[in-house]
Amino acid sequence: MRELNVIFFFFLIFLFACSGSDKKKSNKENLGVEITASDMEKGGQLYRAKCMNCHLKTGKGIPKVFPPLANSDYLRKNTDEAIKMVKFGSNKPIKVNGIKYNSLMPASGLTDKELVLVFNYILNSWENNYGQVSLEEVAAIKR
Ligand code: HEC
Repeated sequence: MRELNVIFFFFLIFLFACSGSDKKKSNKENLGVEITASDMEKGGQLYRAKCMNCHLKTGKGIPKVFPPLANSDYLRKNTDEAIKMVKFGSNKPIKVNGIKYNSLMPASGLTDKELVLVFNYILNSWENNYGQVSLEEVAAIKR
């Protein structure tokens, strides 16, 4: 009986070890370089404070008024242009998932560092798996 317990104990350790390494692996595959949980949390806080009013908690937006960030072909393909829009504001016509948008997004007023956090959050939230941006990349984006 005791032996069984010992075997069971090692089996549990084995399970934990496996699930731990799986997690790490999938993070690396998805993100290239790992975004820390704490950066995702900070990005989420910025999102809830500065973006959620229009793009909604689910990132789905409101068709024809506020474009979606979740499953957005625009965000996936034109990440730099999207950063520019959030950095400086935008009211030019754009198309997201085949639907036209031409309303106003005011400049976010965020620092480059905050833009990195909020973008890495939206690039990797909901079902998005759109990679990540660096501070150098965001800082290089000019009007
Ligand atoms: C006042 C409402 C509002 C707020 C707040 C807002 N947006 Fe937007 N956002 C818009 C609108 C409207 C557009 C389309 C702008 C256009 O037509 O030029 C847009 C476009 C975008 C796009 C590009 C299109 C897409 O759907 O992929 C991204 C990315 C984006 N916003 C991210 C953000 C982020 C990140 C924040 C918070 C820092 C934010 N937005 C805050 C209204 C808003």
